[in-house]
Amino acid sequence: MDLKQAAQVRNSVRAYLEKPLSSSTKAALEKKIAEVNKKSGLHIQLVTDEPKAFDSFMAHYGKFSGVKNYIAMIGKTDKDLQEKCGYYGEELVLFAKTLGLGTCWVALTYKKISAAYTLDEGEKLVLVIAIGHGANDGTPHTNRPRNEVAEAPVNAPSWFWEGIEGALLAPTALNQQKFRFILTGGNTVKAEAGRGFYSKIDLGIAKYHFELFAGKQNFEWAK
Ligand SMILES: Cc1cc2nc3c(=O)[nH]c(=O)nc-3n(C[C@H](O)[C@H](O)[C@H](O)COP(=O)(O)O)c2cc1C
Repeated sequence: MDLKQAAQVRNSVRAYLEKPLSSSTKAALEKKIAEVNKKSGLHIQLVTDEPKAFDSFMAHYGKFSGVKNYIAMIGKTDKDLQEKCGYYGEELVLFAKTLGLGTCWVALTYKKISAAYTLDEGEKLVLVIAIGHGANDGTPHTNRPRNEVAEAPVNAPSWFWEGIEGALLAPTALNQQKFRFILTGGNTVKAEAGRGFYSKIDLGIAKYHFELFAGKQNFEWAK
């Protein structure tokens, strides 16, 4: 399974099996996280065998069960931190799916266990991604109509619409899908975050999907 196939079959998973992550799975995740940290400048960390973050009232309210591992999305506070966390975190979510793992982005329904990760000076924990062997595969989300998330001339190239299909597969907080992609010139695409909770994280995630499906070589992002 490649990342594109992973995006097509991924859903959020909130119930996990007792089965721990094997040492080879942990090593593969650590390797990928190191690669992503290097190119992004983020300080993402894998937390394993730590049940407390998802053992609270909030976590149960959020319908989570059996979560013992998560990816802590950490980076230096700056104006792009949220979008960066979305973009690079989604690379990890899709990579995890290729390893047969379930994931769920979690911004609200968990408790911060500060002893479980390291914050260097100026850094903060933005959100986490629950990860593990899913007890189920989740269920596909509903989508907003294309005209609410895309703006393009009638003769827009097919890569643009493929990008939109990809973006609509992206997970967003409360499935709000408040992003918008506008084909502004021949091959220039403007991505806008709507109003709403976590919409900059959502935008980063949706941009990762858009690139994966439209093909990075076909377009450039508007500055
Ligand atoms: C930034 C972000 C924050 C999220 N926070 C939570 C959360 O706190 N609790 C939860 O149960 N799901 C959370 N989710 C998962 C979304 O509800 C889920 O992605 C959305 O409903 C779409 O479903 P899908 O991921 O199965 O496609 C979050 C997703 C994103 C992208």
